[in-house]
Amino acid sequence: MSNRGGFSNRLGFVAAAAGSAIGLGSIWKFPFEVGSNGGAAFVLVYILCCFIFCFPIMLAEVAIGRKTHKNAVGAFGVLGFKQWSIIGKLGLVSGVLILSFYNVVSGWAFGFFVEIIKGNFGIGKEFGAFISNVPLMLSYSGFFMVMTAFIVAKGISGGIEKATKIMIPALFVILIGLMMYAFTLDHAFTGLKFYLIPDFSKITFKVIYSALGQAFFSLSLGMGALITYGSYFSRDNNIVSSSVIIIGATIAIAFIAGLMMFPFVAYISQGTMQGVGSGAGLIFTVLPGVFESFGTTLGIVIGGAFFLLLSFAALTSTVSLLEVPVAYLVDEYKWNRQKTVWGVALFIFLIGIPSMLSSGASPFFTEFITYLGASKATDFLTFVQHVANDTFLPLGGFMISIFTAYYWKKENLDAELTAGNEGYATSWVRPLVHIAVSFVCPIILGIIFVLTVLDRFFGVALI
Ligand code: TRP
Repeated sequence: MSNRGGFSNRLGFVAAAAGSAIGLGSIWKFPFEVGSNGGAAFVLVYILCCFIFCFPIMLAEVAIGRKTHKNAVGAFGVLGFKQWSIIGKLGLVSGVLILSFYNVVSGWAFGFFVEIIKGNFGIGKEFGAFISNVPLMLSYSGFFMVMTAFIVAKGISGGIEKATKIMIPALFVILIGLMMYAFTLDHAFTGLKFYLIPDFSKITFKVIYSALGQAFFSLSLGMGALITYGSYFSRDNNIVSSSVIIIGATIAIAFIAGLMMFPFVAYISQGTMQGVGSGAGLIFTVLPGVFESFGTTLGIVIGGAFFLLLSFAALTSTVSLLEVPVAYLVDEYKWNRQKTVWGVALFIFLIGIPSMLSSGASPFFTEFITYLGASKATDFLTFVQHVANDTFLPLGGFMISIFTAYYWKKENLDAELTAGNEGYATSWVRPLVHIAVSFVCPIILGIIFVLTVLDRFFGVALI
């Protein structure tokens, strides 16, 4: 691995992987998914999915990467199962799709930072017009992709590690501060009830697959991003405890983001919770009004800091997404790293343009597809999320669990997880991980995959 570079130590890996995980998924997407999927019931299913399905798959991904020191596609060949590199190839497709829209939303976040520091708190009300302003969005998301490419071009420990070590603690601090403020507002309790008291009748099949997709997405799983990051991780480090920290930190950030958002929604809607299910615009429409209530100066400082940190959080995630195809092309085809970074970044930026146009600028992409049995059209950006996040990522996780349990074999997984963690061989976690990768993940994820495709895309509601 000498010339591939690597993380300087365990903290470096944990910081980078947590940086990949923590991003728009936890702060932008999680609250609006909770809002659109009935509240607390979604939160519960999400957390269960993180532990039951995602934890074992995270262990498997990192172990495969570290064992082989290879990219998401090449790793399977090194283990002697070239035909399984299809998992990595599906991952490349998912990663390119995800980065294409993720970069657009990152542009929104960065654009909001600019508007808020200009003192334009009215931007929340103009969200729709703002994101359909094509020249502006091209510049913001173009700028964002340039930043991403710049960090990836600097290599693993130099760029990615450093950015994250500062950003995550700062993000925690600002979210906790805003959460405490939220608790003091009128109607806070109404918001918290929506967020924390589950109504089990709301757990429909749609809630389950949205929560599952959200769990994979927020933990950056199911597409080989963690195979790639694991490949830069050294063998004397503990994969199991590192994974627990990554998952814990991600859930904590998402959970706190919710504790902040729902009291805010209740406050802004005067206790009616109106608009809570409004989708992708949720944080963008609600937060500027909240910052305005601080008064101009404080509003600019706190609101500006919030959107800047959100942009940084997004940046450490876009970096991990870009790293996956870059590592593949550099490892397998010996391409020049610098040129590959810029070329792939440009390519993905262009693929993202339809997502940029799908919030009103182009009627074609705004009403891109009407699923069978659906009454309303779905826009392109949301469609890409349904395909990549909610369908491909769990499918990738499903295949990784089958591969690990029945082809690579559990003994090899055990051996890799024991390296750097002597106690693993005799710990209670081990049998649970075995059951998860052999039975629970393949069976449940397999069933959900089939039902998701039928339900979401073909309108066949089986549950
Ligand atoms: N986890 C990130 C977020 O929640 C997004 C992300 C980064 C991702 N890398 C990924 C999602 C790899 C899936 C796979 O914001």
